[in-house]
Amino acid sequence: MQRIAVMTSGGDAPGMNAAVRAVVRKAIYHGMEVIGINRGYNGFIEGDMWPMNLGSVADIIHRGGTVLHTARSKEFTTPEGRAKAYENVERFGIQGLVVIGGDGSFKGAKVFHEEYNLPVVGVPGTIDNDIPGTDYTIGFDTAVNNVVDAINKIRDTATSHERTFVVEVMGRNAGFIALKAGLAGGAETILVPEVPFDINNICNKLMRGVKRGKLHSIIIVAEGAASGLEIGQKIKELTGFDTKVTILGHLQRGGIPTATDRVMASLLGSKAVEVLMNGHTNKVVGVRNSETIAYDLDEVFGKKKDLDTEMLELANILSI
Ligand code: F6P
Repeated sequence: MQRIAVMTSGGDAPGMNAAVRAVVRKAIYHGMEVIGINRGYNGFIEGDMWPMNLGSVADIIHRGGTVLHTARSKEFTTPEGRAKAYENVERFGIQGLVVIGGDGSFKGAKVFHEEYNLPVVGVPGTIDNDIPGTDYTIGFDTAVNNVVDAINKIRDTATSHERTFVVEVMGRNAGFIALKAGLAGGAETILVPEVPFDINNICNKLMRGVKRGKLHSIIIVAEGAASGLEIGQKIKELTGFDTKVTILGHLQRGGIPTATDRVMASLLGSKAVEVLMNGHTNKVVGVRNSETIAYDLDEVFGKKKDLDTEMLELANILSI
């Protein structure tokens, strides 16, 4: 394989730049050329791409976001859009494609491979950590730390005013960010889409806490479990507590990537290049039990990644 292309696609995630750097430098180290595709599949369709060199990825390992920019492309979901992208595959002489993104981006890669037989490999990059088959996705660690940082700050003002705070976090249909940040932040209650909840039980727990002298309470709500605003309203109605709601939103997705995200992104980007060099296709790279692996792209679709419910149980016990 002489020339590969790399793109970032879907929601950006801190650490994507470290993955791009790893793909570019590893490929060049092995004598290949790399084309950088700007703005995900939209740039692929429009031919918004250029040759990258060692210097193209200098000074980016510590930066959040993605220097290749990203998009959620509607046009690439159509055969016409993919046909235009294939014209650019031929025009630029691309022999393999690395897609750094989430499951929606991987779906695009899979369909493209089926239609045009271009070798593809996915690198999991999403703060949601919701890709089946891998313990870890790039950006998750930074997002969790961003949430924990916010909880620490909210806790200060919550204690001062003896208030209840509901904090809504991202994660799409999964509760990984809520669970890990909730445990690390010492939240009283963590609501995740994977486990049903009863608002009366939540309020009873809050009231028990206040009775035994708690000065504040923090409830973490995964966006896929419920609306933070609605939960806050219900708690206010049922307990009469002074309840405030904070929706953390996109600040969770920004900022300097943690060392963990940078290291994992470097390992995964490098592994993706190895997969293509070894003639494999239709793969995703990931981490299982601390080992970097490659597995079939098909394993990503049609099932949901399990949440660690024992960890949720522990968080409940510790916040009694
Ligand atoms: O998939 C990453 C993510 O941040 C989700 O947690 C969230 O639901 C979604 O993207 C938000 O998407 P957008 O940035 O397009 O609003």
